[in-house]
Amino acid sequence: MRSFQTTNQGLNHNSLPLRLYHKAKKLGIWDPKDIDLRQDQTDWSVMEESEKEKVLRLLAMFQAGEEAVTLDLLPLIGAIAKQGRLEEELFLTTFLFEEAKHTEFFRRFLDEVAGVTSDLSCYHTPSYRKIFYEALPQAMQALAADQSPRAIAKASVTYNMIVEGVLAETGYYTFYETVSKQGLLPGLMKGIAYLKIDESRHIGYGTYLLQRLICENEGLWDFIYAELNSFVPTLTNFIQENFDPNNLPKGLNYDEFLSYSTQRLLSRIDVLERARTKTIDEIYRITEREVGVIEPTVV
Ligand SMILES: [Fe+2]
Ligand SMILES: [Fe+2]
Repeated sequence: MRSFQTTNQGLNHNSLPLRLYHKAKKLGIWDPKDIDLRQDQTDWSVMEESEKEKVLRLLAMFQAGEEAVTLDLLPLIGAIAKQGRLEEELFLTTFLFEEAKHTEFFRRFLDEVAGVTSDLSCYHTPSYRKIFYEALPQAMQALAADQSPRAIAKASVTYNMIVEGVLAETGYYTFYETVSKQGLLPGLMKGIAYLKIDESRHIGYGTYLLQRLICENEGLWDFIYAELNSFVPTLTNFIQENFDPNNLPKGLNYDEFLSYSTQRLLSRIDVLERARTKTIDEIYRITEREVGVIEPTVV
């Protein structure tokens, strides 16, 4: 017989997903339409064509990436709702809303600053397509028919660890090291600062979810570790295809850049592996700091 958590026991406000939900209600409500892009329009009008091209390449990846994560999240929300994990679902309602705003934000920049009317998918290299056109939608859509711990883990590894935790973070790093350090496009950078904080909650939730699955399911760590490692060749190709050492955006050092993205992956593995020695109660109480959630003082 059906029962309702909020009439028979209430919500667990101490659990990480509900703490992230409360944070999202305060921090995830910035409006992409409120960001002032007037200085960005002035900057764009005087930037060299080659520099604009490098920014457009990054934007083409972020724009499609945000659209992909908006379109592909629903099967995970469905799987979590089916299991009756109410605190997690409450958080996931903010997650999807935020991805929608990220999609809106990049398109606003393309429309109002860059004036793009052409198809930007020419900037999507084979490795990018492998992740965003194939691996991500396949792993997420599989959840419609299969909500096993393995299927959820595969979806979360692809979505939260690889797409959000490695690729998006490497993208922010590129924007900060190039556009931001040159003092250009302040509206774009302001939006990126907001969405980076949102993304830290998404990755934080994914880390919690995978830690919970590792703790609850004997042997799942080995599967997760193998899944994470299976992306290494594609990630290496991604960097080679998109960041030619001889033609990098101003200010970017190829070796530092490569080591930054590798470090992202290694730090994800390190945090997840800790779940092997934790109890489920310890995982419910995991701190925002341990899963890398950014606090609001950053903006
Ligand atoms: Fe996003
Ligand atoms: Fe996200």
